Amino acid sequence: MLHVKDLTRIFGQKAAVDRISFSLDRPGFVGIIGRSGAGKSTFLRMMNRMTDASGGEILFQGRNVLALTGADKRGWQSQCAMIFQQFNLVPRMDVASNVLHGILNRRSTLATMFNLWSEADITRALDILDRLGISEQAPKRAEALSGGQQQRVAIARALMQDPKVILADEPIASLDPMNAQIVMDTLRRIHDEDGRLVIANLHTLDTARRYCDRVIGMRDGRIVFDGTPDQLTTGVARDIYGADASFSESATSTSIDALDRDYAQAMLA
Ligand SMILES: Nc1ncnc2c1ncn2[C@@H]1O[C@H](COP(=O)(O)OP(=O)(O)O)[C@@H](O)[C@H]1O
Ligand SMILES: [Mg+2]
Repeated sequence: MLHVKDLTRIFGQKAAVDRISFSLDRPGFVGIIGRSGAGKSTFLRMMNRMTDASGGEILFQGRNVLALTGADKRGWQSQCAMIFQQFNLVPRMDVASNVLHGILNRRSTLATMFNLWSEADITRALDILDRLGISEQAPKRAEALSGGQQQRVAIARALMQDPKVILADEPIASLDPMNAQIVMDTLRRIHDEDGRLVIANLHTLDTARRYCDRVIGMRDGRIVFDGTPDQLTTGVARDIYGADASFSESATSTSIDALDRDYAQAMLA
């Protein structure tokens, strides 16, 4: 269903993404891991055409994604919803309106200016909030919610688009462990129940192991690992995160996670 072939993005002299190739034959739950600067975000942005590729191909259900223009490109972007580390909600706007903004590009400018949502759209937005367990937050301003709730609103906004693909760029990197778990459980449930393809850039190995069917490890723009969570051994982690990473011979998942947190902190700094 998805074929990525020799996908490349060059910034100046540097290949941020360097001829990556992989295929999925059905919509899975895919995690992409790698240290900061490995090219994970650039890959996701090329997937939904926020960033142009320098070369290569993306075929989704037989469509040549990189060749889409105009309305076709916008159509693809709405089928390919994006979730960000910082939620990207409109802070002062109420939760329900934030969710309704998921279908903004389907509506006329006039309707949007006057906030004229159809009753059917409003009902659907509330149903989605209900499904994600946050319907009572609907009238509140987004900024009044906790980080975990805000990320669920962002997921609700994505679902409003009824996307085939959900791209999540470090969706839990700003959340405490409990909220991180709620958000990951939510994404996994959407995948399991709706059969939507989820591709998530993740900053901890533990999360990738726990939630993903398939894990892709990137380093310096290249894919250095592509396999199942149980194939993610300490040796593989060293390949992904670099030989300078200090693993003890008997490295446990705990020490690997400490390493991940260091990278995550560096990235957030
Ligand atoms: N708009 C840009 N202009 C120049 N360089 C960029 C741009 N976006 C990303 N890069 C570079 O591309 C590389 C990969 O970045 P990114 O995809 O953000 O990595 P990751 O998400 O894995 O941290 C980095 O070296 C980064 O500095
Ligand atoms: Mg990134």
